[in-house]
Amino acid sequence: MKQIRVAIIGATGYTSLETIRWLLKHPVAKITYLASRQQEQPIHELFPELLGRIDLPIAPFDAHAIQQAADVAFLCLPHVAAMQHVPPLLDAGLKVVDLSADYRLKDATVYEKWYKHAHSDAKNLAAAVYGLPEFFSAEIKSASFVSNPGCYPTAAALGIAPLLQAGLVEPADIIINAASGISGAGRTPSQLHHFPERNETFESYGIASHRHAPEIQQTLETISGHAVHMLFVPHLIPMDRGILETIYLKAKPGAKLENALAAYDRAYRGKPFVRMRLNNLPSTKYVANTNFADISVKLYNGRFVVLCALDNMVKGAAGQAIENMNLMFGIDETAGLL
Ligand SMILES: NC(=O)c1ccc[n+]([C@@H]2O[C@H](COP(=O)([O-])OP(=O)(O)OC[C@H]3O[C@@H](n4cnc5c(N)ncnc54)[C@H](OP(=O)(O)O)[C@@H]3O)[C@@H](O)[C@H]2O)c1
Repeated sequence: MKQIRVAIIGATGYTSLETIRWLLKHPVAKITYLASRQQEQPIHELFPELLGRIDLPIAPFDAHAIQQAADVAFLCLPHVAAMQHVPPLLDAGLKVVDLSADYRLKDATVYEKWYKHAHSDAKNLAAAVYGLPEFFSAEIKSASFVSNPGCYPTAAALGIAPLLQAGLVEPADIIINAASGISGAGRTPSQLHHFPERNETFESYGIASHRHAPEIQQTLETISGHAVHMLFVPHLIPMDRGILETIYLKAKPGAKLENALAAYDRAYRGKPFVRMRLNNLPSTKYVANTNFADISVKLYNGRFVVLCALDNMVKGAAGQAIENMNLMFGIDETAGLL
């Protein structure tokens, strides 16, 4: 099988480290270029666990040099920075998987409203394929440019979409109660994420303002074809990694638990990274350091209570990005991920 040469842009952050870790075990992919604005130290000095595992210099961002070295670029950059780097990479003929939020919202005015920045790349925004393989694998397989979903939106879409598609729940009555570990905020230090601020506390944040809300809404509406009305309430929990979403969906009259289980079975039969938990409940512990999303569903006083757990750094970021790369290059979706 032909080698896939990979460049990582924004190589010094958390999603980059996670991408490197997984790609070092990939049967076909090889990391050939690491780009960052910090070039003074080798990558294993920034990430000591990589000592003896990868011996590549960190180089400046140079689309021509990346085109010579790689077939695909993973963008592990903050939003706004990502959309400044995508056009030269696509113009150079590379395939691109963007882990940022810059190309997830299809409407540039919605992007500007939530991200407080005008979108500067309408052409590639229109072309970007939303990289949720469970629902868009056909589009991903033929894409040059994939926008990797957010971590909370991945869990929400996987948990809710099958029941919406099957017409079992009211699209206007969706409540998502979500909690994430602190790595979701990235490696850049901030007071909010300082250890004494986060340790031994469980807090909500971003009610009515979290930027993943419009992405969840867009994804659910695209998959189901229905207008959706929802509440999304995120929390931070003092763990390194992991997301658990508890989702409350109003059951339509006559909808039964067995209908819901059949809907998940239809949606996820043959999908390697979604596991239905029938005899116990999802936990962040069971999915940590894996690319699995675990789901359970109960019917309780007229509502389906759906739980979905995943690792924000893996199925919520780097693992899903590699899954998308596998699909874009026509290899086994699970390569390097099991
Ligand atoms: N963390 C998660 O769980 C998660 C999940 C899903 C998606 N994401 C998304 O993935 C992207 C990367 O997240 P992360 O957690 O890896 O962030 P991070 O740890 O903060 O790393 C981002 C890297 O981007 C580089 N960078 C920052 N500002 C830049 C700029 N203006 N121009 C060029 N490079 C810049 C920095 O590297 P240098 O300073 O070395 O250049 C930094 O190491 C973000 O868009 C994030 O929203 C994160």
